Amino acid sequence: MKLWENARIVPMADAVPGMEVIDDGALLTDGESILAVGPREAVLSQTPLADKQVEEVVDCGGGLVLPGLIDCHTHLVYGGDRSREFEQRLEGVSYQEISRQGGGIRSTVAATRETNQQELAALALDRATRMCANGVTTLEVKSGYGLCVEDEEKMLLAARSLRERLPVSVHTTFLGAHAIPEDFHERSDDYIQLVCEEMLPSVARQGLADSVDAFCENIAFSCQQVRRVFEKARELGMPVRLHADQLTNGGGAALAAEFGALSADHLEYTDEAGVKALAESGTVAVLLPGAFYFLKEKQCPPVELFRKHEVPMALATDYNPGSSPVDSLLLVLNMACVMFGLTPRESVAGVTIHAAKALGLSDRGVLKPGYRADFAVFDVETLAHLCYPIGVAPARLVVQAGCLTRPLHQRP
Ligand code: NIG
Ligand code: FE
Repeated sequence: MKLWENARIVPMADAVPGMEVIDDGALLTDGESILAVGPREAVLSQTPLADKQVEEVVDCGGGLVLPGLIDCHTHLVYGGDRSREFEQRLEGVSYQEISRQGGGIRSTVAATRETNQQELAALALDRATRMCANGVTTLEVKSGYGLCVEDEEKMLLAARSLRERLPVSVHTTFLGAHAIPEDFHERSDDYIQLVCEEMLPSVARQGLADSVDAFCENIAFSCQQVRRVFEKARELGMPVRLHADQLTNGGGAALAAEFGALSADHLEYTDEAGVKALAESGTVAVLLPGAFYFLKEKQCPPVELFRKHEVPMALATDYNPGSSPVDSLLLVLNMACVMFGLTPRESVAGVTIHAAKALGLSDRGVLKPGYRADFAVFDVETLAHLCYPIGVAPARLVVQAGCLTRPLHQRP
């Protein structure tokens, strides 16, 4: 057992508004799980300290302790970069236009196909290491830059290899329906058939993905095509999520809801009917302020409607080379407050409790007995102090499954 003391704890669960920080708090962990959390005195009184079962006492330095951060939407496995397209966009060419000209996602597909699994894994490791320093203990990673059986699987294997190399939980998502590959130009239905008949069954057979995603948009796939992918996922018993209503209102939110999706992501153009559908299906709205900022979008997601209909809002980096080259979930907290009008508490809930729900994980995202001992300690006073600077100092301590993983030299 380990005792983590001198902590100001924000459990993100059962909070009394205005009283969400437990000053002089402590956590008791046993292996991968939390045994007790609360005011130090209370934790100590339920602790068999006398039995000398506490093997280690760790001083959290008076820092703010949060559940380990969860980045529930990333595309961090990819080859190449999109700096040339960035310049084109600065000259006034739109993201959609670049995509229609055969660039965009397809240019990253070409670069990813040319990069082997080991190189992809090394690039992803470097990116994920920086994310973990910010307090991330669970990371979702999508495929979607391979667009054929072999290259999609190569991406998923590269993503899964992070599990052995970093102290982070990795949730992988098959995003075969991300773009229409060049060899299927004007044959998008044929490509969807390949996704449903070959790619998805092969990925499922090998257990390479925890969920299935698609890009529902006029520059990608129609609702009808996404429906085919989701039906196949259902047949294979895999949960779904969807890139929905990012650039236009294509009815993506309602489609995601119809299939009981874990999450619908982006949602800038979702209308009230779509929001209501998400509320009814218990689907999490994942907001991605990095992509909104980088594509200079004008229409914010309908945050007021999410509040009104009590749709949980998660936040993620959407880390990718084309629309959101940001690896800092802490910066995303700031962006969500400034651009989308979330409160600091809503923002932090978006990268903890609601992000866990977006991944279908019920063992993390809050600090409570029985939950995973994943937490991060920041040298800040309050949740507002975590959100208001543009670029906060990385986490002082990161604990994953009960083990100190940052700073690494303190690893027992
Ligand atoms: O989430 N919207 C689709 N997919 C990514 C962008 C990927 C890319 O441009 O490479 C997104 O924004
Ligand atoms: Fe995305």
